[in-house]
Amino acid sequence: MNDDLEQRAAELMGEAAHGYFAGGAGDERVMTRNIEQWQQYRLAPRALVDVSTIDTGVTVLGRRWAHPIGIAPMAYQRHAHDEGEVALARAAAQAGALFTLSSQTTCPPVEVAAAMGDAPRWFQLYVFRDRAVNEDLIAAAREGGHEALVITVDFPVGGRRERDLRTGFAPTHPTLLDRVAAADGVALTLAERHALHDPSLTWDDIGRFAESSGLPVVLKGILRPDDARRAIDAGAAGVVVSNHGGRQLDAVLSTAEALEPIVDAVAGQASVLVDGGIRRGWDVVRALAVGADAALVGRPVLWGLAAGGADGARAEIERLVAEVENTLALIGCPRAADVDRSFLAPARR
Ligand SMILES: Cc1cc2nc3c(=O)[nH]c(=O)nc-3n(C[C@H](O)[C@H](O)[C@H](O)COP(=O)(O)O)c2cc1C
Repeated sequence: MNDDLEQRAAELMGEAAHGYFAGGAGDERVMTRNIEQWQQYRLAPRALVDVSTIDTGVTVLGRRWAHPIGIAPMAYQRHAHDEGEVALARAAAQAGALFTLSSQTTCPPVEVAAAMGDAPRWFQLYVFRDRAVNEDLIAAAREGGHEALVITVDFPVGGRRERDLRTGFAPTHPTLLDRVAAADGVALTLAERHALHDPSLTWDDIGRFAESSGLPVVLKGILRPDDARRAIDAGAAGVVVSNHGGRQLDAVLSTAEALEPIVDAVAGQASVLVDGGIRRGWDVVRALAVGADAALVGRPVLWGLAAGGADGARAEIERLVAEVENTLALIGCPRAADVDRSFLAPARR
């Protein structure tokens, strides 16, 4: 079903843009495994529970979300649809989903913010070598009313994305980075952009960003329980268990595999989110059962955006929410906030 939507999106976008959005690193094994490994978790429904009222609400970073689905930060959205991030942000706001704006947004953050009313939003930060660029991005986060700064920690250097190497995909819509990093206004190639990331970023820097931004910090790209503990020690309010959708290293563990030990290590001291391969509402509920507070979704909503603009993206989010509701009813757990490991079949507990 999602394949049909991706197919339609691919036809509209052309090969190079589709390859950029769809692709992963190397042989794309991690990208595929992200999807497959959620199936390891089999739900064990409780019978004869009153499910006449379903409450999908959860609490993340102290704020109530209407449901446990957020939109993962994704770059260059005007290459998927002319209205880009403005359209996806509007769709997220209408469907009650957190929207995370990428540092590599192709729409100005103020325009994205204007499309969202007071709906919840986070800002994703890539840390660049040029500290002035980082400060400008953080200022944009604050001005846009973003409630958290999501620092992506799995991108010291770019992964080997072979589709992009083959097609030579180069973003032509300028981003905030072009405006602040390329004084002559010439769009940067993908490789040039990746070379601007700061590969010397370490734990010592994280506290500084938390302080200078004045925003709660969430570290995205955590795959190890010891790193999750370090994140908390460094002052992070949350972590996103993520392997960047399989786009960085084609030899790492899937996020479904990484989640459980991280939830145990965090022990409720920070919010835990997860992304990668979440394609169905029942995958979201699986993540909640393992112990995540919410899940982020990437590519499926991009296909919706590409195929149908804001309406197409909203339809994808609403499909996922409807599947979450349906799953909660069918496992006999009317409140998303009450899903726990007791709903996992014994082999996976
Ligand atoms: C086209 C594309 C662009 C992305 N851009 C960013 C980005 O700018 N910053 C970031 O932290 N993650 C980025 N990611 C990773 C996503 O935030 C997320 O981790 C991943 O897509 C989740 O996996 P899924 O697509 O299987 O749902 C990107 C992913 C895709 C597919």
